[in-house]
Amino acid sequence: MRSLVFQCLLLFVATFTTTISGAPHRLSPIDPFLRDSKVGLATTDPLKDVEAFSTTKRSTTLTSSRKVMPLSHNGITSTLNGGVHRFYGESNPVGSMAESVKNKNIRGYFNSAQALADYAEVLLHIKKKLHAHNSPIIVVGGSYGGMLASWFRLKYPHIAVGALASSAPILYFDNITPQDGYYSIVTKDFKEASDNCYMTIKKSWDEIDRVASMPNGLSILSKKFNTCSQLKSSYELKDYLDSMYASAAQYNAPPSYPTTRICQGIDGASHATNILDRVAAGVVAYSPRSPCHNTTRAVGQTSIGWGWQTCSEIVIPIGITSNASMFPSQPYSFQEFIDECKAAYDVTPRVHWATTYYGGHDIKLVLRKFGSNIIFSNGLRDPYSSGGVLEDISNSIRAVYTTNGSHCLDILTSTKTDPEWLIEQRHEEVHIIRGWLRKYYHNLRLLKQ
Ligand SMILES: *[C@@H]1O[C@H](CO)[C@@H](O)[C@H](O)[C@H]1NC(C)=O
Ligand SMILES: *[C@@H]1O[C@H](CO)[C@@H](O)[C@H](O)[C@H]1NC(C)=O
Ligand SMILES: *[C@@H]1O[C@H](CO)[C@@H](O)[C@H](O)[C@H]1NC(C)=O
Repeated sequence: MRSLVFQCLLLFVATFTTTISGAPHRLSPIDPFLRDSKVGLATTDPLKDVEAFSTTKRSTTLTSSRKVMPLSHNGITSTLNGGVHRFYGESNPVGSMAESVKNKNIRGYFNSAQALADYAEVLLHIKKKLHAHNSPIIVVGGSYGGMLASWFRLKYPHIAVGALASSAPILYFDNITPQDGYYSIVTKDFKEASDNCYMTIKKSWDEIDRVASMPNGLSILSKKFNTCSQLKSSYELKDYLDSMYASAAQYNAPPSYPTTRICQGIDGASHATNILDRVAAGVVAYSPRSPCHNTTRAVGQTSIGWGWQTCSEIVIPIGITSNASMFPSQPYSFQEFIDECKAAYDVTPRVHWATTYYGGHDIKLVLRKFGSNIIFSNGLRDPYSSGGVLEDISNSIRAVYTTNGSHCLDILTSTKTDPEWLIEQRHEEVHIIRGWLRKYYHNLRLLKQ
């Protein structure tokens, strides 16, 4: 099974008020506790005990207070609060995530549909408390949170007027998206950074195996890659590198573009005749300040929880099949995944549930005349964009993507170094949302006269 990164900004919720005449009650600022509440991050690989928090720099950014929408730059008053997904963060029912996902009486409540229902309850409660019955709500989320945002709009149109779903791979279920999608984009990102870099990495896997099989091979590799402790298998190193490349591609954000950084390391060491010395230079370039490279995966609460979710309902089949891939072939097997989930949680994944409950097949045909007011935003350098909605479905279900963007980039706080195309993407999103709100208030006035 692939080790991959699936860090999430869980759902945030924005409620809007505008100052046009006849507009409803103005919302007061949201309780700072809510605003600062932890936003969960997760990874899709329960069985590898991936801890997303510690393995990438970007993920810590996502947990920090930077999780703010850029909307308020443009005159819409927005109030944000971090939505909290049941079981994640501090809302765990029995103390630890590990105990919760083992508990057969309660873990059944740990699913996306229940989380959406929680949001519905909370939002209605807030509206009531604030006497803000007519205030429109826009839900915003990234990654898994982006999926939740779009699903919330479809399931609860009476509560959310619209959704901004950033980097939401809602089509990465049930073979709608080819299993190779994710890693083919990782490969593309590295190829774009440098052909030589791509070829070096592609050739390195066999070389790692070759060296590992020599007497003292693992010691040689441990030394070459400056691992914090002696490698126990060649797999451990390959898994570490695989995660590093995937993270670099997923969070391939300006201004430093981690894939470019790795490739500069690799290409910069072209004097080294040994492939592995070049790859090691790429590792150093990716995390230059690490005194050593820790190839032991940490087990975090969030990854245990996400493991449960992927083994029960969020089954995203990611494999490697193309021979042009930078990675060795590793086709996805539903059967293997099912066996692993049975071993880990004694549960059989419902591989078709996501599309049964939320749809996804023939999405254009289905949503053209049914849904409205959803933005699917993506950056095409994000491997998850392969499972995203990249074409407009209708006038109000829009795809807004950037060629050089990465995972959740648009919903991070703006910075001085943001390139023009990112600023434009955000402007476009704000422009679309304003249109929804204008229409909403127009209808409100018509119908409430
Ligand atoms: C490496 O990471 C593991 C898992 O988080 C941790 O237990 C261990 O202490 C770390 N080792 C070093 C040398 O940092
Ligand atoms: C991939 O495989 C196809 C046929 O199986 C072959 O024609 C092609 O040359 C291969 N490409 C690479 C990069 O190995
Ligand atoms: C995207 O990046 C490529 C290569 O890094 C560059 O050539 C291209 O101009 C960029 N596109 C935009 C829209 O900035």
